[in-house]
Amino acid sequence: MDPDDRRRMDEARKAAERAYAPYSGFRVGALVVASDGSEHIGANVENAAFPSSICAEANAITTAVASGARAVEAVYVTCIDDPGCTPCGNCRQIMREFGVERVILEHPGGRLETYRLGDLLPLSFGPDALGAR
Ligand code: THU
Repeated sequence: MDPDDRRRMDEARKAAERAYAPYSGFRVGALVVASDGSEHIGANVENAAFPSSICAEANAITTAVASGARAVEAVYVTCIDDPGCTPCGNCRQIMREFGVERVILEHPGGRLETYRLGDLLPLSFGPDALGAR
């Protein structure tokens, strides 16, 4: 366990408190650690046109990229209304694009557990398949 894990998850939790989730009532927060050590938060932002909604992880990763990051080391995720949720498939694929290695999830009761993205998204399709990166 990284000594920063708890602090980072608490920041993801604060981001979740700012989520815009009037339709699902399901607030998610994420914190991304980019390869340069910078940290970026995100929360889910829903839309009346449901498919236009943005997940917390996607929000945090795209914010990191817009800040200049091109590689992400770790993503912390917490779902404050229903502890124990796991990232959706689309977010796992976005993580794959930017080389995420570790995904840290908060389980009910506050226990943190670290997963490897390769275990969450086996046999994945990525930039290498297109000769990129
Ligand atoms: N959600 C996330 O933010 N991340 C996930 O990985 C799973 C789902 C959001 C999307 C939507 O706003 C709400 O949770 C219910 O699906």
